[in-house]
Amino acid sequence: MNPLTLPADALCALVGPPGSGKSTFARTHFKPTEIVSSDFCRALVADDENDQSATGDAFEVLHLIVDKRLARGRLTVIDASNLRSPDRPWLLIRARRWQRPTTAVLFDVPLATVQAQNTSRTRVVPEHVVREFYDLLPTVDQLHEEGWDTVHLASTMTPAPARGLRTAPKGGTR
Ligand SMILES: Nc1ncnc2c1ncn2[C@@H]1O[C@H](COP(=O)(O)OP(=O)(O)OP(=O)(O)O)[C@@H](O)[C@H]1O
Ligand SMILES: [Mg+2]
Repeated sequence: MNPLTLPADALCALVGPPGSGKSTFARTHFKPTEIVSSDFCRALVADDENDQSATGDAFEVLHLIVDKRLARGRLTVIDASNLRSPDRPWLLIRARRWQRPTTAVLFDVPLATVQAQNTSRTRVVPEHVVREFYDLLPTVDQLHEEGWDTVHLASTMTPAPARGLRTAPKGGTR
């Protein structure tokens, strides 16, 4: 298992279907202000993180926050599925604009595990939606080809690295 060490000014996209463990992983590894979550942005604009009708507005808010953090060189972790076609290209374009290093964490969780984790929680996403998103999962090679500087598999990450060892200095190793 590897610790997740990121440059202090990195953009980090979590890539995985609903129920794969992205938010759990984000809470374990990062400070709340470093996490920009699509669910949280839905709640901000609609008082309901499950209100899919608020997705467009929520992503406008998410994009604004991401852009402001990247401009300032603050570590920015995107807690969204990042599986729809415009999601990752937009993030890569903004990271390049601000010359920030990019990392993708791919949630390489078997479909059966994703489905079990999804049904065992309070907020259950319809099974066909989980499968639709699961089918959009890229491979590690595809993520590299898209232009992500570093790609990690969530399954190889240590569950709870010590805070403070989490980020490298700006311009440090990736
Ligand atoms: N490594 C793990 N081992 C066992 N259970 C896990 C693990 N990671 C997450 N879970 C559980 O799986 C469920 C889904 O996790 P989580 O909410 O983090 O997924 P998510 O990818 O953020 O989903 P969504 O995209 O719908 O927000 C939760 O009940 C969580 O406690
Ligand atoms: Mg989540």
